[in-house]
Amino acid sequence: MEDGIDFDRPNAARMYDYLLGGAHNFAADRELAERALAGFPTLRYLAQANRGFLRRVVTWCLAQGITQFLDLGSGVPTVGNVHEIALAHTPNARVAYVDFEPVAVAQATEILAQLDAPDREQVTVTRADLRLPETVLDAPGVVGLLDFTRPVAVLAVAVLHFVDDDLPAILDAYRARLAPGSIVAISHGTDDSDDPAVAVAARAVAEAYRDSATPLILRDRTTVAGLLPGLDIVPPGTVDVVDWPHPDPGAERSSVYASVGRVPE
Ligand SMILES: C[S@@+](CC[C@H](N)C(=O)[O-])C[C@H]1O[C@@H](n2cnc3c(N)ncnc32)[C@H](O)[C@@H]1O
Repeated sequence: MEDGIDFDRPNAARMYDYLLGGAHNFAADRELAERALAGFPTLRYLAQANRGFLRRVVTWCLAQGITQFLDLGSGVPTVGNVHEIALAHTPNARVAYVDFEPVAVAQATEILAQLDAPDREQVTVTRADLRLPETVLDAPGVVGLLDFTRPVAVLAVAVLHFVDDDLPAILDAYRARLAPGSIVAISHGTDDSDDPAVAVAARAVAEAYRDSATPLILRDRTTVAGLLPGLDIVPPGTVDVVDWPHPDPGAERSSVYASVGRVPE
């Protein structure tokens, strides 16, 4: 263990980086990711499909005029990061990244240090646990960057399935700080499937993750749809990530749900 980094205990941030073809992972992460891949060979596709949703929802928010993002469980930065999309669209966009994994935070810090001014002042990374909404929201990198009197998009993409606590209460604590018109966008793993073999495989992945620092909790559609209390759910509702915001019948199902809610006026 060095600076909070446990090289021997695999975790979600570095396994996900490995699945996406990144280099910020250790032998233990690769080994467990390979075990999960053996049970569920489409896991790589799932990670890519989820990243596709992340890009689409950020672009969609920007089209709605939302230029501030709080990215919870932002992970090891990889191609198509939120700040790259946001700043390319709107030079004065603001992005606050939050993750509790030291390698993800160190890597993000390094990437952000290479940004030119003024972009460098418009993107922050904070090491914090999203299960502590007050700590996250009051962190200097968050409260000092984002203007919560204006709409903010809170992204919790492919992270809530690592949280075993009272998710509606946690998400509600974030919502309570958000101005009307703000967005909360989530994606979440599931073992719902018309194909029993896919359901069994998804459960095998969750089983593999039991040996990681971040066990995986699969939830069904009804539970995921209920995670955004008090928000107006944006059409098409809680759907496979590949079908958000438009159905893509040609795409393989991903075993990851997307749901996006808007804070009412
Ligand atoms: C699968 S990655 C998703 C990364 C990115 N959101 C994406 O969709 O591409 C999950 C990330 O959530 C982080 N994470 C898990 N639990 C967390 C928590 N309680 N607080 C903050 N980050 C967390 C992990 O460290 C990891 O980087």
